[in-house]
Amino acid sequence: MKSVKEYYDKTGWTKQKGGYVDALSFTTTKGNDYKNNCNERLRKLIGEPELLLDVACGASPLNSKAKKQLCIDFSITAVTEAKKNKPDGFFVLGDITALPLKDNSVTDTVSMHTIYHVHKDKQEEAIKEITRVTKNKCYIVYNAGKHARLVNILSLPLQLWNWSEKRINPNSKRKIYFYAHSYKWLEKFGEVKTYRLLNENCIKLYSRLLWLASKFEMRFSKHSYHPLLVIDKNNDKRI
Ligand SMILES: C[S@@+](CC[C@H](N)C(=O)[O-])C[C@H]1O[C@@H](n2cnc3c(N)ncnc32)[C@H](O)[C@@H]1O
Repeated sequence: MKSVKEYYDKTGWTKQKGGYVDALSFTTTKGNDYKNNCNERLRKLIGEPELLLDVACGASPLNSKAKKQLCIDFSITAVTEAKKNKPDGFFVLGDITALPLKDNSVTDTVSMHTIYHVHKDKQEEAIKEITRVTKNKCYIVYNAGKHARLVNILSLPLQLWNWSEKRINPNSKRKIYFYAHSYKWLEKFGEVKTYRLLNENCIKLYSRLLWLASKFEMRFSKHSYHPLLVIDKNNDKRI
């Protein structure tokens, strides 16, 4: 298995057929409206902070409504691409477990689809580091993996298909480090909400029912494949 940094430097944020290899490897082109709804809900929740930190921004930082957006990633390829995709942003190379920022120096922070790629013993350190540099609120999009039992049962047919495909062609899917702590573990730090209920396999399988998921998914935060951890530094003293 490649290191996460090596993967994003050399492969993930390179382009193939007009798209980033990372997106082509891990996401489906189906369900764009559903995915955009989830993103829009997060953008609204974040609102218009003075300075938003997007940490582990990848090649396509969040298109937020913040007055200023500081984007940090430890991959030089991510930062180079991110500059092209968000010309009004500010960019710094840095590690999520040791951010080159002073305490309370940004208004709010968002980190999407990254903490679960940090080693399981260092994920708490990363969350504490994000919280340290933030004055008000942190928004962390996580991946519940095996803990999202309902979604995993719903996507079982496609999981079996992918598994058999991998047995025939072991190189068919790229693998990078991944570890999902439980919903209970996330609750140690703040409130668990929903970013997106469904995983990519469910989106593929139930593409006609995504409107239904959009309607009800906020009630299923502890079943969400992508829970949203919200840490409110001023009103919640869990961390
Ligand atoms: C799955 S991508 C997500 C990118 C972006 N946030 C998004 O949602 O599209 C993960 C990103 O996290 C970055 N990353 C992983 N571990 C990191 C770390 N320890 N410090 C900083 N960035 C990291 C990778 O370089 C990659 O760009």
